[in-house]
Amino acid sequence: MINLGVIGANGKMGREVVKLVLNDDNFKLVCAVDKFNVGNVLNDSVKIEDDIKNSLISRKPDIVVDFTQPSSVFENIKTYMQTKTKAVIGTTGLTKEQIEEIKKMSAQADTGIIIAPNFSLGAILMMKFSQMASKYFSNAEIIEYHHNQKKDAPSGTSIKTAQLMMESNDNFKLGNCAETETVKGSRGGTYQENNKGNIQIHSVRMPGFVASQEVIFGSDGQILKIHHDTINRECYMSGVKLAIEYLYKNNSFIYGLENII
Ligand SMILES: NC(=O)c1ccc[n+]([C@@H]2O[C@H](COP(=O)([O-])OP(=O)(O)OC[C@H]3O[C@@H](n4cnc5c(N)ncnc54)[C@H](O)[C@@H]3O)[C@@H](O)[C@H]2O)c1
Repeated sequence: MINLGVIGANGKMGREVVKLVLNDDNFKLVCAVDKFNVGNVLNDSVKIEDDIKNSLISRKPDIVVDFTQPSSVFENIKTYMQTKTKAVIGTTGLTKEQIEEIKKMSAQADTGIIIAPNFSLGAILMMKFSQMASKYFSNAEIIEYHHNQKKDAPSGTSIKTAQLMMESNDNFKLGNCAETETVKGSRGGTYQENNKGNIQIHSVRMPGFVASQEVIFGSDGQILKIHHDTINRECYMSGVKLAIEYLYKNNSFIYGLENII
C-alpha cells in the first residue's frame, strides 16, 4: 500500500488525482492540501489542509503528487526535499535553471522526484516522433492549444518537445528572408538554447480546448504534421499512476515520463 498526498487537491488536475487514489486498492490517501476549500472532507480521515509542511510532517505520505501553479511549485519542491518526501510533479512552468537546482536538491536530500511536463502517453509519443523527424527537416514550428485558464505560456510540453527536437537538430532555420512583424508576436516565440534552436512556438488560449499540440516540419516540397489532442483530463492518470509506482520502488531524479516508459 502506497500512502499518498495530493497537493493542489482542489484544482482541476488535483481532483482527478484524488479520484485515482481513492479508487486504487494499492493507494491510500493520507493527506490533501490546497489554498481553497480548506476543511473539505475527501474520505473518512482526510480533509483538505492549507499548510504543506505541517501536513507532510504530521501525515508522512510516502509520495506527494503536486498539481498546483507555476508560481508556487518551486517553493513546494523545496519543502518536499527538506522533509524528505518523494514527489511526482505535474505542475508546469519550472525553468531549466530551477530543474537543475531541483536535481541537486534531490541528490543532497537523497529523495527521488519525477517531474513530467506531460503525463499523457500519446503526448510522449508525439514528442518522441518529433525528435525522430527533427534529423530530416530544416524548419520546424510548434503550435500548442490550451483552455484559457492556463497561466503559463508556452506550455511545458511544447518546451520539452523543443528540447528533445534540439537534441536531434540544433540548427533549424526560421524563414528564408528578413522578416517583419506588423502585428507584434505574430511569428510566435523563438525557442533557443545557447543562441541555437530557432523553433517557433505559438500558444493559443481558448475555451473548448483541454490540451492539444501540433508540430509542423517543412523542407523542400513537403510538410509533416504530428498532432496530439487531449480529450479530457483522465488521459493523464495512467501516467501519474506509473510515476507513483516507479518512484515508490526507485529513488531517482527523473525529468520527463519518456525516461520511465
Ligand atoms: N503534467 C501534466 O501532464 C499536466 C496536465 C495538466 C495540467 N498540468 C499543470 O498542472 C498545474 C495545475 O493545473 P490545473 O488545471 O489543475 O490548475 P488549477 O488552477 O485548477 O488547480 C491548481 C490548484 O492548486 C492550488 N494551489 C496553488 N498553489 C498552491 C500551494 N502553494 N499550496 C497548495 N495548493 C495550491 C490552487 O488553489 C488550485 O486549487 C498547471 O501548472 C498545469 O499547467 C500538467
